[in-house]
Amino acid sequence: MLGIKYFPHNLNVKNKRVIVRVDLNVPLKDKKIQDSTKVEQVLPFLHDLIKRKAKVILISHLGRPKGMRDSALSLLPIYKYLKKKLNTNMYFYTGEINDELKTKSSYLKESEILLMENIRFFKEETENDEEFSKKLGEIGEIYVNDAFSCSHRKQSSIYSITKFVEEIYAGPLLRKEITAIDAIVKNKKDPVTCIIGGSKVSTKIGVISSLIKSTDNIVIIGAMANNFLLHKKNKIGKSLKEDNSEDMVRRILEKAEKNKCKFTIPEDCLVSKNFQGEAVVRDVKSVEIDDIILDIGPKTIKIIENIIDNSKTVMWNGPAGYFENKNFALGTNAIAQRISKNTKNKSLISVLGGGDTVSAINNSGLELSFTHLSTAGGAFLQYLEGKDLPGLSVLK
Ligand code: 3PG
Repeated sequence: MLGIKYFPHNLNVKNKRVIVRVDLNVPLKDKKIQDSTKVEQVLPFLHDLIKRKAKVILISHLGRPKGMRDSALSLLPIYKYLKKKLNTNMYFYTGEINDELKTKSSYLKESEILLMENIRFFKEETENDEEFSKKLGEIGEIYVNDAFSCSHRKQSSIYSITKFVEEIYAGPLLRKEITAIDAIVKNKKDPVTCIIGGSKVSTKIGVISSLIKSTDNIVIIGAMANNFLLHKKNKIGKSLKEDNSEDMVRRILEKAEKNKCKFTIPEDCLVSKNFQGEAVVRDVKSVEIDDIILDIGPKTIKIIENIIDNSKTVMWNGPAGYFENKNFALGTNAIAQRISKNTKNKSLISVLGGGDTVSAINNSGLELSFTHLSTAGGAFLQYLEGKDLPGLSVLK
């Protein structure tokens, strides 16, 4: 992307307070990190800042706590993880965004790090509150956004904070993401296939609609496919669906037909009576009233593998099923393996995005390789859609 101000390699940060907005939004279970990819990715830049004697203030969100403190969404486990990995003094700030924060950050010594508690514990963050952004901005002399994955959010620590810090830059991780996605979009070869999972059609309707025009195949998997199955008069039992999605689904399918974009939805699935259960294969026409659809079935896997084999570029966002239970990770793993194999052997251009997709791939324990794997979900899709992301527009 043109015009973004990147953090210069030779910038003098010695003794300067550098605010770094990172994405430490990792999956947690009982306060334990389930996938540390996002934390690992921020380490090289932090090591670099420590070496160059900056005073670092880290800001991140975790989950969507709705402007209230929620101990299940505390960054404490991530603080402990980072502390073990970074060879420096590190502090955790759990107070309010006020003068105390300003004082604490001014006490930082060269190469020390202060991690702030989940910034979304304050409702002002998601409201992009001006006063709050000013208080955040006042704690640093340099601001670096190194969270491409959050740059689609018009929120204080991404957007308005940039008005209140003198020097603002995009960080190296953000740069890497944008450079890789730009190169792929520019050099993509036909036929192009987009595989899209996730649960909500409404959050992805924009990207699906815009991809229809530039894509040969769209494959819908995950819980989102349930809305398309309903549209085709199938029963989905107790599976997740989005209310009032009929109109969106109809419009997407009409647009696909008009643009000669082949649209694929599952023909069979794996169901269970609960999330912990065993998998039973069902044709989508015979899903029972108390079934929950938790993965795509073997016939659908074959169809998708065949589409991948006939593609020169594949973009994928969102797992095929409830991969946290290995009985329902089969679809996701099969898609990942086929994309990886063709990336290695047939020069397939492959770009994968989304925290869940990355977790699913790491969970699979398989040795896989892709042209680019992005931890960004919503930001990745909006960027592909050609939207000007608020967090990037302020870095220009
Ligand atoms: C992500 O996981 O995609 C980012 O951390 C953004 O999270 P959000 O969708 O809650 O803003």
